[in-house]
Amino acid sequence: MKISKICCIGAGYVGGPTMAVIAQKCPEIKVTVVDINEARIAAWNDENLDNLPVYEPGLDKVVGEARGRNLFFSTQVDAAIQEAEMVFISVNTPTKTYGEGKGQAADLKWIELCARQIAAASDSDKIVVEKSTLPVRTAEAVKDILSNTGNGVKFQILSNPEFLAEGTAVEDLQQADRVLIGGENSPEGKEAIQALVDIYAHWIPRERILTTNVWSSELSKLTANAVLAQRVSSINALSELCEVTEADIDEVARAIGADSRIGGKFLKASVGFGGSCFQKDILNLVYISRSYGLTEVADYWEQVIKMNDHQKGRFARKIVKSLYNTVSGKKIAFLGWAFKKDTNDTRESAAIYVADQLLNEKAQISVFDPKVKYQQIQSDINYLQTRGKEENGALLESVADPYEACKDSHAVAILTEWDEFVQYDWKKIYDSMLKPAKIFDGRNILDHEQLREIGFRVYAIGKPLE
Ligand code: UDX
Ligand code: ADP
Repeated sequence: MKISKICCIGAGYVGGPTMAVIAQKCPEIKVTVVDINEARIAAWNDENLDNLPVYEPGLDKVVGEARGRNLFFSTQVDAAIQEAEMVFISVNTPTKTYGEGKGQAADLKWIELCARQIAAASDSDKIVVEKSTLPVRTAEAVKDILSNTGNGVKFQILSNPEFLAEGTAVEDLQQADRVLIGGENSPEGKEAIQALVDIYAHWIPRERILTTNVWSSELSKLTANAVLAQRVSSINALSELCEVTEADIDEVARAIGADSRIGGKFLKASVGFGGSCFQKDILNLVYISRSYGLTEVADYWEQVIKMNDHQKGRFARKIVKSLYNTVSGKKIAFLGWAFKKDTNDTRESAAIYVADQLLNEKAQISVFDPKVKYQQIQSDINYLQTRGKEENGALLESVADPYEACKDSHAVAILTEWDEFVQYDWKKIYDSMLKPAKIFDGRNILDHEQLREIGFRVYAIGKPLE
């Protein structure tokens, strides 16, 4: 089976970049990305590539090359579904905020709506590919909806989870460690798997394209994120121990990471992990485990989240304590708001929770982030509903200049590891701050020795105090 037209439902962080790369690598396939959000589609179609709704290094070039040739962004969902032989589902699956499983289970409302829309709009057989991260056995529900349309159209469901990380999405897509495709073990299932393998084989070496059954594929996605997050929580747990024992967490990480069985990646201690996946996927794993009565399994993975919450909380408490147990009315500068560098995404960012805790203490926070705008920052903090919008607006500002953010502050906190923070004129910042001037390096990116020479008091994650 040869695919000539693809439709992707959902033009977000996953759907947009993934389809852009497929279109770039497969010029003979027409790729249409659809979304109900008109503003988002308009931004994907903006002539000025700086205005794409997702910021990813290199993405503008890929979109610039393929858009209008074989890559299209549209709000005409039904038409795109109808003409495609393969439909990707790439819509959001947030944690449920209501009812059974609230706060843990994934909300599959959007997935179900998508499945129903595909069923209604299809008049020819199609391969439906789950791209969004989904709980194990979601494909069963999707299949059930699709196979009961009564119009004789046949659907094959594949699971093809996305492993791209934000900030390196284009590179991760173009040089993937592996591509995972799960499908049914039947002749039709195998044919569908092969059709998707053929697409990826345009640029991914065949031995890196893994094929499994649907359930293994769905579970592998959750597991990959859970294991990565577990490494971060493990190193963060040890960072607290380092602070009281005069061990240095970066030295410990380097020492253990040099063991090739452990490896050096994902061992960077931080103020806590964020992003749209880690917490959500682990909560999902916990929920599924509990729903099968596997209490120990659920408790084990839940601890990764608890440790992360603890890390964010203790960073905020450290700031309050070191500012003589009161931050009321004191200006604190936040450098960074995104959940990691090179992205404008702020979902579950540690900065939000640290800010919330400091705002409870009535601190005045001034944020500078190279890619995150004021409106986003306000909406992130308002979303928590800890206090009214007006109070958040009065206590939390964002400025376009980092030196302005730090001026007259009692402390500077690094929340995101943006490269440019390292290059700042820290002497100039020191001179503009109230004394004693304090720095809380939540990412361990600055030269602490040099800062101390300038006169700063430095608190870093997992480092002896002075
Ligand atoms: C993650 C997975 O890496 C990716 O494969 C999956 O498809 C989606 O989820 P992402 O959320 O984009 O990607 O970011 P990632 O680079 O994994 O970082 C997640 C969080 O962990 C960030 O807040 C980051 O700052 C933090 N982190 C990561 C650390 O604190 N220390 C580390 O050593 C690594
Ligand atoms: P992700 O990080 O998983 O890509 P995003 O929230 O960035 O998540 O993107 C998901 C996109 O899916 C959003 O732009 C949303 O408007 C879109 N979407 C959700 N449901 C539907 C639907 N039924 N039809 C079309 N688009 C949808």
